[in-house]
Amino acid sequence: MCNAENAKRAVYTAVLPQIRALLDKEAGLTANLANVSAVLMQAFDWHWVGFYLVRDGGLVLGPFQGPPACTRIAYGRGVCGQAWAAAKTMVVDDVDKHPDHIACSALSRSEIVVPLFDRAGRVWAVLDADAATTAAFDGCDAEYLEQAVQLLQDFAP
Ligand code: SME
Repeated sequence: MCNAENAKRAVYTAVLPQIRALLDKEAGLTANLANVSAVLMQAFDWHWVGFYLVRDGGLVLGPFQGPPACTRIAYGRGVCGQAWAAAKTMVVDDVDKHPDHIACSALSRSEIVVPLFDRAGRVWAVLDADAATTAAFDGCDAEYLEQAVQLLQDFAP
């Protein structure tokens, strides 16, 4: 839960309307995922944020902000693949202590992965945010990022 003392709450309550206003039904998926990752990267001091899209039984890198990243992640592998398989948000406080974390960047220390569901409840993408500090993400990020990705449901293929 995200209580009023959590400084992130104010940032997210500003970011969500910004995302809502930016989403453009005509522009298509790439444009919208790119803008969402840009808004989040501008708002937070993260190392990397972006999307992996479900394609041919795996995850393929989509629009993102930050250094180059792994292009493919298998089902159930890494935090992204696990969040997809479990259909649940995953918060990892210390990636070095997480079994099967995929180190796309040696600078990542903690991360959150949030699945995107289509109207049938299937995961069609995941949002992945990585920070260069441990324990950068908490229930506040989970709560608001789940709301943010919900806004993208209409763009599910
Ligand atoms: N951390 C992810 C891999 C993707 S990158 O960090 C951008 C994982 O273990 O799933």
